[in-house]
Amino acid sequence: MFALKRILHGLVIAFSRVMARFLPDRVPMTFVGTDSTAELCGFIAQAATKKVLIVTDAGLVRAGIVGRVTDALDGAGVAWSVYDGVEPDPTFAQVDAGVSQLDREGCDAVLAVGGGSSMDAAKVIAAAATNGRDATRLEGLMKVRTPPVPLAAIPTTAGTGSEVTVAAVVSDTETHTKKFFIDPKLLPELTALDPSLMAGLPPPITAATGMDALTHAVESFISKTSNPQTERWATTAVRLIFANLPKAFADGADLDARKAMALASYYAGLAFTRTSVGYVHAIAHTFGAYYRTPHGMANAIALPHVLEFSKDEARSQLARLADLIGVGGSTDREKAEAFIAAVRDLMSKIEIPYTLDALKREDIPAIATQALAEAHMNYPVPRYMDQPECERILGAILA
Ligand SMILES: NC(=O)c1ccc[n+]([C@@H]2O[C@H](COP(=O)([O-])OP(=O)(O)OC[C@H]3O[C@@H](n4cnc5c(N)ncnc54)[C@H](O)[C@@H]3O)[C@@H](O)[C@H]2O)c1
Ligand SMILES: [Fe+2]
Repeated sequence: MFALKRILHGLVIAFSRVMARFLPDRVPMTFVGTDSTAELCGFIAQAATKKVLIVTDAGLVRAGIVGRVTDALDGAGVAWSVYDGVEPDPTFAQVDAGVSQLDREGCDAVLAVGGGSSMDAAKVIAAAATNGRDATRLEGLMKVRTPPVPLAAIPTTAGTGSEVTVAAVVSDTETHTKKFFIDPKLLPELTALDPSLMAGLPPPITAATGMDALTHAVESFISKTSNPQTERWATTAVRLIFANLPKAFADGADLDARKAMALASYYAGLAFTRTSVGYVHAIAHTFGAYYRTPHGMANAIALPHVLEFSKDEARSQLARLADLIGVGGSTDREKAEAFIAAVRDLMSKIEIPYTLDALKREDIPAIATQALAEAHMNYPVPRYMDQPECERILGAILA
């Protein structure tokens, strides 16, 4: 049985390599800087858009961020309707409500304004609008037959990179699982990285989302399917995050640090959407499904443990990352250790705990099974993990 699982995992790696060749080189048209929201809205006005559905969450409306975007759309002469029903880790019911509003309001384009939750919900709403409206039928790999309505994304967190990925995640509240939608057609056409919209992001969310971006970059870099181009994107992201995440955490209004983090998240997204992620994400998704742990926080807590587990197989890559951020050692083994220590140091600077309070000992076997099922079907990781090894890691994460 164990040998069979390993063979299956070998096939996943081979399949991932083949799939990577079919990913489009396309990236969204990207506007960067404090004028980028207005520039993106001006671009929407050039297209023959009748009315755009803004997909967002109520907190961003209250914070005045959505108002900044609607002002820019008004300035560009574009009609809009706001759907603000998205919550962290969006559900199918939230997606369905967005599709209904799109129909009711006669919208023919979608603009996501928010973090990964709003961007992912927007992707699925835009795809469901042209594919029979039942979002559950689009779940999985390459299920989006008809191109979605035109889709643009303005991220307000610097973490998920969803503005440049071919993926969306929706939570299934009945089965406590996250459902994945992976299709190049889900890639937005336009994006704006506007640091001024991120200035009010509270420090704990800045920290968690920044660690999500770091996890994307590191898991991409050590993936069996990384290539010179994804390595460049991933290393750029790692360098920017170590230099800027503590600054953005300490002073949210530091727009240079915010811009650097927005770029880091974007580069990490470019990298991981072509190489996939790994065990850190598999564990984090399960924490999210069980305990609603914020995605970035869940990744951050799992990251050093999974790197410890993989450090021999990923030694040279981790050593390169250590060199990149200037933490030392004279051998690759020492450098790999130094990089993992630097991740822990970064976590303590931005006040992320090393353990997960919500985790219950009795849930560990089921969480390990679920995480490994996700990883072994999808992720080209450098070292295979079995059930007892995963349970041991989860035991170390117990508070
Ligand atoms: N599609 C992908 O490629 C991908 C990758 C990683 C994660 N995800 C998914 O993304 C989701 C997580 O997204 P997230 O981490 O960006 O968080 P989020 O979108 O859930 O937002 C978290 C909270 O931050 C608030 N917020 C966002 N921007 C703000 C701002 N500028 N100022 C003040 N408050 C702000 C939101 O209102 C919300 O309450 C998860 O569902 C995860 O599974 C998707
Ligand atoms: Fe992530």
